[in-house]
Amino acid sequence: KGRRAFIAGVADDNGYGWAIAKSLAAAGAEILVGTWVPALNIFESSLRRGKFDDSRLLPDGSLMDIAKVYPLDAVFDNLEDVPEDIKSNKRYAGSSNWTVQEVADSVKKDFGSIDVLVHSLANGPEVTKPLLETSRKGYLAALSASSYSYVSLLKHFLPIINPGGSSISLTYIASERIIPGYGGGMSSAKAALESDTRVLAFEAGRKNKIRVNTISAGPLRSRAAKAIGFIDMMIDYSIANAPLQKELSADEVGNTAAFLASPLASAITGAVIYVDNGLNAMGVGV
Ligand code: NAI
Repeated sequence: KGRRAFIAGVADDNGYGWAIAKSLAAAGAEILVGTWVPALNIFESSLRRGKFDDSRLLPDGSLMDIAKVYPLDAVFDNLEDVPEDIKSNKRYAGSSNWTVQEVADSVKKDFGSIDVLVHSLANGPEVTKPLLETSRKGYLAALSASSYSYVSLLKHFLPIINPGGSSISLTYIASERIIPGYGGGMSSAKAALESDTRVLAFEAGRKNKIRVNTISAGPLRSRAAKAIGFIDMMIDYSIANAPLQKELSADEVGNTAAFLASPLASAITGAVIYVDNGLNAMGVGV
């Protein structure tokens, strides 16, 4: 039976969200994506102009089809939350219905229900600053965009996720081990996301029979990761020190998401699943 997935946080073909969309599409799911408003125009025009066609290729030779792209800004739950300067910002004024609640309403109107909800987004304006130099505003912004955005997405989509459905987010080991350079409260934001994964698994499991898991992914040269500034070093470190000495591909994370979304994972919920070539299991660098 055809399942339907909504993946929040796809704005190019380099990140985990794109790879997860592909793996879910390869498993037969219909794909809807949520794209950050400021990135919407360039993503849609690149899609239209065929810029992503090579990376849309699925194992069976067909091209991944994205049934619909929704503009989304996951730091706003509804219109009342949106400040004037954003409302009048040219890029935001150019599209509509991009708060979390409005996107959930639009998906309901367009498609009725979904089976899989993916949160593949994060933002920390002060990520390059050490925690001791992070402002309250920067810290709370990291939590708002990277942690509460997931609570809000799940809360608003839950009524339209079919029972037996699955929800997945992306986290990073900086939540539990010291990773110098992953600053601005982003380590705190991932710790919150992992804790929330357990509590939300309980609440959504009891109430709606929905599973909630998070993938702790190894380093990938995505747009977001390049902005942090140490991604090449983290990739080299992993290749040098992880049990599996190879570069992690986004598809390996995508395939894990497809597994977690499938009935093969029907007893897995509230879990942090490491997809990192085993680096998390090491106690020392070698
Ligand atoms: P990415 O740049 O492909 O994805 C991040 C997305 O978040 C972008 O599309 C961006 O437009 C979107 N976004 C930012 N603020 C938003 C907002 N307020 N509303 C809606 N969308 C917003 O980068 P990547 O690295 O694939 O990130 C996906 C997830 O994977 C994130 O949660 C990240 O923390 C996580 N992750 C990434 C790792 C890496 O090395 N790249 C390692 C472990 C986890």
